[in-house]
This record gives sequence, C-alpha cells and structure tokens, in this order.
Amino acid sequence: MFHLTEEHLAVQEAARQFAQNELKPGVIERDSKMQFATDQVRQMGELGFLGMMVPPEYGGGGMDTMSYVLAMEEISKVDNSCSVLMSVNNSLVCWGIEAFCTEEQKQKYLTKLATGEWIGAFCLSEPEAGSDATSQQTTAVDMGDYYLLNGTKNWITNGGSSSLHIVIAQTDPEKGHRGINALLVETSWPGVSIGAKEDKLGIRSSDTHSIMYTDVKVPKENRIGVDGFGFKFAMKTLAGGRIGIASQALGIAAGAYELSVAYSKEREAFGKPISQHQAIAFKLADMATEIEAARLLVYRAAIMKDQGLNFDQASSMAKLFASEVAMRQTVEAVQIHGGYGYVKEYHVERLMRDAKITQIYEGTSEVQRIVISRNVLNGDLYVPIPGLNGVM
Ligand code: CAA
Repeated sequence: MFHLTEEHLAVQEAARQFAQNELKPGVIERDSKMQFATDQVRQMGELGFLGMMVPPEYGGGGMDTMSYVLAMEEISKVDNSCSVLMSVNNSLVCWGIEAFCTEEQKQKYLTKLATGEWIGAFCLSEPEAGSDATSQQTTAVDMGDYYLLNGTKNWITNGGSSSLHIVIAQTDPEKGHRGINALLVETSWPGVSIGAKEDKLGIRSSDTHSIMYTDVKVPKENRIGVDGFGFKFAMKTLAGGRIGIASQALGIAAGAYELSVAYSKEREAFGKPISQHQAIAFKLADMATEIEAARLLVYRAAIMKDQGLNFDQASSMAKLFASEVAMRQTVEAVQIHGGYGYVKEYHVERLMRDAKITQIYEGTSEVQRIVISRNVLNGDLYVPIPGLNGVM
C-alpha cells in the first residue's frame, strides 16, 4: 500500500535538495525579519511545487497526492512559511478550482496558479468566524449580473502576495449555510484592500494579512458551483487542505527529529555522546515511533484521496494526530538540544514555534475532533483501509 514508486522517490529527493540548498541558508534571517521568500517562491513555481496535482493541460505537474505530501514533508522540515504557501496554493486553491470549477474558470485561473505565475489565497476566516465557519458576516449581495462583496477576512495566508482570492461570503442569511457562496476575486479589482502583515509566533515570513472588501463587483461567472454551494465547497476543499497541513506537521516533527539525532551523536556529556544516555535515547525512540505513526496516517489519507474514496475523516485524523506529534516532539527536540535548542542558530526553536499553528489553521484540533466524532457517532467506527474492503 505504501510502496513508493521511482517517481515518488524522485519528487522526494528534488524537494529535499531544494529545501536543504535553497531554503535552509536564509531561513533564520527571513523568520527573524518576517521577510517573504520572494526568490524562493518563484523557484518553487519554476520547479513545479505550486501546482503539483494539477493536470498538465492546465500547466500543472499531474502528480498524485502522495507525491505532494512527500514534497510537503521535505520542505516543511526546513521552511514552513514556504510550505504553508505551497499547501494553500496546491490544496485549497488549485485543487478547489480543479475539482469544482467550470472549464472557463479553469482556463482563466488554474493555468496561472498551477505555474506560480499567480499565487492564490483562501479567504474564509473572519474576525468572528473561525471554527464556526457558517457565521459569515462578509456579504455577497446578488445584483443580477454580479455580486456586491463587502466584509473583512482575517489571518489570510498569502494575503499580500496573491493575485486571486477564493472568498466565502453570505448571499442569503435566511438560508444559513445554504445561502453561502464561494467567489473567485482578482485582487487587482477596485475595492480589494490588504491590511498590515501579522507579526506572528511562528511561520513568521509567511504573508498573513487581513483583507477588506468594499463594494467589490464580482461577475456572476466567478461564482464556484451553483448558488448556495459555497459552504460545501469550503468544507470539501478544507478536507483536502488538511492533508497538506498534516504533511506540514509531519515534516516539522521529522525535521526536529533528524536535527536531534545528529546533535545527540555529536554532543558529549558525562564522558560520552548524549545519545548513549538512555534519557536521550528513549526520547529519540518515542519521537521515531510517534512520527512513523503520523506518517502512516498522512500517507493513508493521501492514498484514499488518490483512490477517489471519501477522505474527510482520514484527513482530519491525520491532521489532528500529526499536529499534536509536531507540537509534542518539537518541545522534546528543544529539550534534547538544551541551551543550544533555545537559540535560533540550531533551528529547533523555530520548528517548535511553527508547530503550534498546525494545531490551529485549517481547523483547530477541536474542529478535527468534531469531524471525527460525528463520523464515529454516525456509525463509521473506523475508516476501512483502502483495498482491504473494510476488514480490520
Ligand atoms: N463535504 C461536503 N459537505 C460537507 C462537509 C464535507 N466535508 N462537511 C460538512 N458539509 C456540509 C454538511 O453536510 C451540511 O450540509 P447539509 O445541511 O446540506 O447536510 C453543511 O455542510 C453544514 O455542515 P455542519 O452542520 O457539519 O456545519 P457546522 O456548522 O456544524 O460546522 C465544522 C462544522 C466542522 C466545525 C466546520 O464549521 C469547520 O470545518 N470549521 C473550521 C473551518 C476551518 O477549517 N477554517 C480554517 C480557515 S482556512 C485556513 O486556515 C487556510 C489558511 O490560511 C492556512
């Protein structure tokens, strides 16, 4: 089931080389200065990391979700400001458009987004609508030929660097979530304004902004799906996005683990390398075990998506578990490094700060538990392993 093909291994190696050679050298400085990785993001587009799963006819790499999670893991070992951009562009924006948009919309937008010529953003969160995503205050009033868009979105990844926003907005409040639409909004249109860049705990060089929409005229042909489809579009797209963030969390944990193994073999205390002390060796054993378990959940969600199975529960399980492993094990990595772990030069403090956001964005750990528990209570006690016809 988890056999990696030659192609998978080649993608993994290309992402590893890119991360180690191009991202690692400046990552501490960019994080410290909250500096967007303009050149590296351009390179990511050129190397095909921004539209990995998009079919070649729209300019993408035509790869499977497994390839994408392998690349995400390698890039997230090093630079999570770049990997979140990659995750949002691939999963939320490109996949959302590929799966649910018309041919005209794909020709107009997907072709630019898949190559990195344009970067996309997914605008759902609001000052008062985070986990409770149905409470949208942003309005898209039906004016006949167009929607009049007004409102504010918060914590938007790629907010300042994107050319296209997918905006979730309420058209008919009486219909609740069935009155919500998803609209394709070009950021050059009049009425779109970008707030200041957020000063964050982690993923500091990623481009997070609030966005204001003031009387933006969005043509009807830029609506995704039928009238009222916006909330379901958001839920389905986020389920795919959660595989991306789960692989980011996996990469953070694996990156911290690899640094900890190397450090513990070099650093000596009480006359021998600290890896020879059980206090450290047992920590490494727990890290390796938890990371492997997270990896299996992430790969499983990716394979289910590739096989066309319902992956909603699997992606929530992968994100929930991998993000908790990332948080727990980056704290352990700092502990293994001791005083060195607390300074920037050794990378693990940054990974610890980056880990926290994986428990928050694209649905908090609590939201993942809502999704999983609803499935469980509906009688889906487990998600069958693909290919085994539910026998466990
Ligand atoms: N696929 C299709 N439809 C779905 C669905 C899915 N995966 N999940 C829910 N729906 C449908 C339901 O069937 C229901 O439709 P019907 O009434 O027609 O049956 C409708 O959507 C409403 O569903 P719920 O009743 O389950 O909605 P809820 O209000 O109880 O909310 C929730 C459930 C899981 C908490 C949801 O609100 C949620 O996921 N919240 C978190 C939102 C989130 O992830 N925000 C992150 C922002 S984006 C981001 O972080 C990007 C970034 O920058 C990195």
